[in-house]
Amino acid sequence: MKELKNVHILDHPLIRHKLAIIRDKDTNTKQFREIISELATLMAYESFKDVPTEVKVVETPLETVEQVVVKENSIAIIPILRAGLGMVEGVLSLFPAAKVGHIGLFRNEETLQPEEYYCKLPANIEEKVVMVLDPMLATGGSSVAAIDMLKKRGCKNIKLMSIIGAPEGVEKVAKAHPDVQVYVSTLDRCLNEHGYILPGLGDAGDRIFGTK
Ligand code: PRP
Ligand code: URA
Repeated sequence: MKELKNVHILDHPLIRHKLAIIRDKDTNTKQFREIISELATLMAYESFKDVPTEVKVVETPLETVEQVVVKENSIAIIPILRAGLGMVEGVLSLFPAAKVGHIGLFRNEETLQPEEYYCKLPANIEEKVVMVLDPMLATGGSSVAAIDMLKKRGCKNIKLMSIIGAPEGVEKVAKAHPDVQVYVSTLDRCLNEHGYILPGLGDAGDRIFGTK
């Protein structure tokens, strides 16, 4: 994949270590869920580096000082159902005041096209930095559709955070939405004939919720 300005690969030894655990087919549901959440925290730390801030006056025991804090009401996180839900707590552990919206999409297993079934977003979403969460970015169809839905509702500052990306899907999203910053912790090799990421980790939703 050629280098794209809006694609960021958040490589770190700790992220690699945790990826190795969730890729393992013998990792159980509890541990899989915990590590998806931890990876979301690590990725959020880096991908919200440009979070809106404001100055607040704080009184220390000794004097008054102006401090930079995260701007109130500035962030919304939007998990794509189902698997994106696994990343919510991890992001909220760093940004507990973030508002949370939900977009319901599932991938039609034959056409691999995303189908929309739910959308509930926080009020005034168009004024916020919106982070879309989905652990898997495969063909890119779901992410492109979710971002289209957000733009239709007025969102202007959108980011996407996926734990694993396939090169073809990452390129598709980054080109369809060049104004959106895309964060992945790794770029895997390719997709198989069923649209699964290789080497990947299998079906993220099923592994988070223990449905298979
Ligand atoms: C998975 C995953 C993404 C989508 C990625 O969801 O969580 O949303 O597939 O594939 P794409 O990039 O090719 O669109 P799925 O549709 O299996 O639904 P689920 O989360 O309810 O299991
Ligand atoms: N969705 C998943 O959960 N895993 C993949 O590998 C591709 C799409």
